[in-house]
Amino acid sequence: MSNGRLLRQLIKHGAQYGDKEFMKAAEEIIREERQKKHHLLANDLERLLYGKLQYSPKQQSHEIPTDRERGLPLLEVREPSRDLQDVILSDENLSVIDEVLLEQSRIEVLSSYGLRPISRLLFCGPPGCGKTLTAEVLASELSLELVIVRFDAVVSSFLGETAANLRKVFDFLERGTFVALFDEFDAIGKEREDSAEHGELKRVVNSVLQMIDGYRGKSLILASTNHEKLLDRALWRRFDEVLVFERPNLEQIRKLLETKLRGVRYELPLDDRSFINQFKGFSHADIERIIIKSVKTMVLKGREFLTIEIVEEARRREEMRLNLISKL
Ligand SMILES: Nc1ncnc2c1ncn2[C@@H]1O[C@H](COP(=O)(O)OP(=O)(O)OP(=O)(O)O)[C@@H](O)[C@H]1O
Ligand SMILES: [Mg+2]
Repeated sequence: MSNGRLLRQLIKHGAQYGDKEFMKAAEEIIREERQKKHHLLANDLERLLYGKLQYSPKQQSHEIPTDRERGLPLLEVREPSRDLQDVILSDENLSVIDEVLLEQSRIEVLSSYGLRPISRLLFCGPPGCGKTLTAEVLASELSLELVIVRFDAVVSSFLGETAANLRKVFDFLERGTFVALFDEFDAIGKEREDSAEHGELKRVVNSVLQMIDGYRGKSLILASTNHEKLLDRALWRRFDEVLVFERPNLEQIRKLLETKLRGVRYELPLDDRSFINQFKGFSHADIERIIIKSVKTMVLKGREFLTIEIVEEARRREEMRLNLISKL
């Protein structure tokens, strides 16, 4: 849309001179765009106006900490590739993410008032609804690397070693600036529910949360869980924000299909409610799988367009697959 392109050009040029009146007018435009829910445009304009975020897209040199007992890496550093255009979020989650990006881009202004930006988030919700993807998107929007903490490696068979492993992870985070995801950090505690180690593992989950609470470095710390009901309510206050990721509603399904069908030639009634309705109850990841399957069929059958029949057949197969999995 040319309006967006022109605004970007205008603000990029004007921002070079940092004129006070210009800055005020530009801030007003950004506020208006945000009110119109043009979040992507508003974020872009903000970044053009205030310059690149504090963090440069640098690759920090790191020595990945390992578990002493087994030599396994305790974390993985990833270069993010997907950004805000690749994730479908609820309005509530999008506005929190916008707030996080804004605060992270204005750390200096905030700290001059003795304020800290939002820096600890808890992601809850069923599998395949975008928790890990949103962590990647945040990293990409902040031009930071994504660190995924590997809990299978952190939790050692010698539980005493676990605390040492956690310390190593936090020491690593102190040395740089990252988006760090403690992915499914409570899964271990749950899986071993029956074993005698359970009490000990619960303490591990607690000490992770305490370390997150005490962390004062610059990294953005995220924790994700599928089992939010198991978490002690008192622990939630350790996080600045809690985001709930749910299966997509009809409007989100439509947007997701549009996003996943980018670059594909299709003849699908994306505005038809009953067509969209057939995806109700699926997670974002399930819907993505249906689209990938459909596109493969289209290509292998030499069809020029993706049709309703191809997509519906892929959806039926995905439904059968999910039914089989749920019976396991
Ligand atoms: N909200 C979303 N918008 C766009 N794509 C999505 C979304 N959620 C999931 N996907 C697609 O499905 C894939 C898997 O999702 P993701 O790993 O983010 O799920 P998750 O919520 O972390 O699940 P789990 O609880 O199993 O870790 C993503 O890499 C992405 O391609
Ligand atoms: Mg995940």
